[in-house]
Amino acid sequence: MMPVPMVGRAGELAELDRAWSTLALGGRPGPAVAVLTGAAGVGKSLLVAAALDGFAPRPAVVLSGAARVHSPAPYNWLAAVLSGRDTSRLDLPPDALAWLAQQPTAPRERYAPGTLLRLAVRTVRLLVGVGPAVLVVEDLHALDPASLNLVGELATAPDLPALLLVASRPAADAVAPDLAARVLSRFCGVRGAVRQHLGPLGPAEVAEVLDQVYAGTRPSRRLAASVWRRTGGNPYLLTELLAAHSGQGPDALLRRPLSEHPGAPAPRAAAPPDAAYPPAALLSADLLPADAELTGREVEVLACLVAGMSNKQAARTLGISVRTVAVHVSNLLRKTGSASRTEAALWAVQHRLPARQA
Ligand SMILES: Nc1ncnc2c1ncn2[C@@H]1O[C@H](COP(=O)(O)OP(=O)(O)OP(=O)(O)O)[C@@H](O)[C@H]1O
Ligand SMILES: [Mg+2]
Repeated sequence: MMPVPMVGRAGELAELDRAWSTLALGGRPGPAVAVLTGAAGVGKSLLVAAALDGFAPRPAVVLSGAARVHSPAPYNWLAAVLSGRDTSRLDLPPDALAWLAQQPTAPRERYAPGTLLRLAVRTVRLLVGVGPAVLVVEDLHALDPASLNLVGELATAPDLPALLLVASRPAADAVAPDLAARVLSRFCGVRGAVRQHLGPLGPAEVAEVLDQVYAGTRPSRRLAASVWRRTGGNPYLLTELLAAHSGQGPDALLRRPLSEHPGAPAPRAAAPPDAAYPPAALLSADLLPADAELTGREVEVLACLVAGMSNKQAARTLGISVRTVAVHVSNLLRKTGSASRTEAALWAVQHRLPARQA
């Protein structure tokens, strides 16, 4: 299937572009900060990539790092930035650099935490040089505390000629929620900081995606509206739904693919896990497929999964304990034959469950 074209987000792109050009053309000394928050799969990373692509003048330096969720270690963000980069000419103690880059041979415990933080800031300063630079911080919510401290420092590092471009799920879903919240609010204190909270796509934007994907067939507005309701306008769920029906006509989007199309590709394993999403897309029990045998409470918990909520948020929304939610989730995974909560959410989408907007 053709990749789904990016729709909407024009206002956001323009604002990011303005923040960059103001910094790059010397309108305001750095650092500048732009923070994009939003639920899992709402399109933060795509927006970061599109903004970066369009920045004019072109950044002299781009340092990009994301949380490495499966091998968490201090300074993950910087280690990702340093990975594969020639650092031999940087004026820094080689063993500190080796430690910050997480090289396995690095001597342990040689530096105090404060010293390491200062060295980490200096490393970034040396890499940025005279700039102008973009520092991309992907998935801030999943960063280790040392990286969070570092990006917090960078946002206020005097005269750093750089735009920090940060993408994060809401702080409540972070690995270190309190620290993430503090760092996010520290960003907002930076003069001229741009703060964007991305919401789901609207019905017209979903229709635009369908028009482009099914060029020539022109899906009806009614079908587009149904797809919008089924996905809650979440671009990730939309692309998954489209992928599961690639090669078929648009009407297939409203069928029940697991029973009617046994050959349909399985949902991707790497999917957005917990995240806050407006608890809007609630399931209605009357739309339950007869073969699933879910209880009323399980349907409600499934609705929360579709909405991208964490167990804690689901517990709060439904007024039950986190432990009870966990039990429902594990039953849901078994009953829907899903390997992950996102797969269960996708199952719900494919079975036409997330039908009601609150
Ligand atoms: N505006 C959009 N138009 C079309 N497709 C989009 C749009 N935004 C996102 N997508 C698609 O939706 C999927 C999820 O987007 P993306 O990875 O940017 O989400 P995210 O918010 O970064 O998620 P996560 O919280 O998991 O990092 C991608 O396949 C992306 O191409
Ligand atoms: Mg992302």
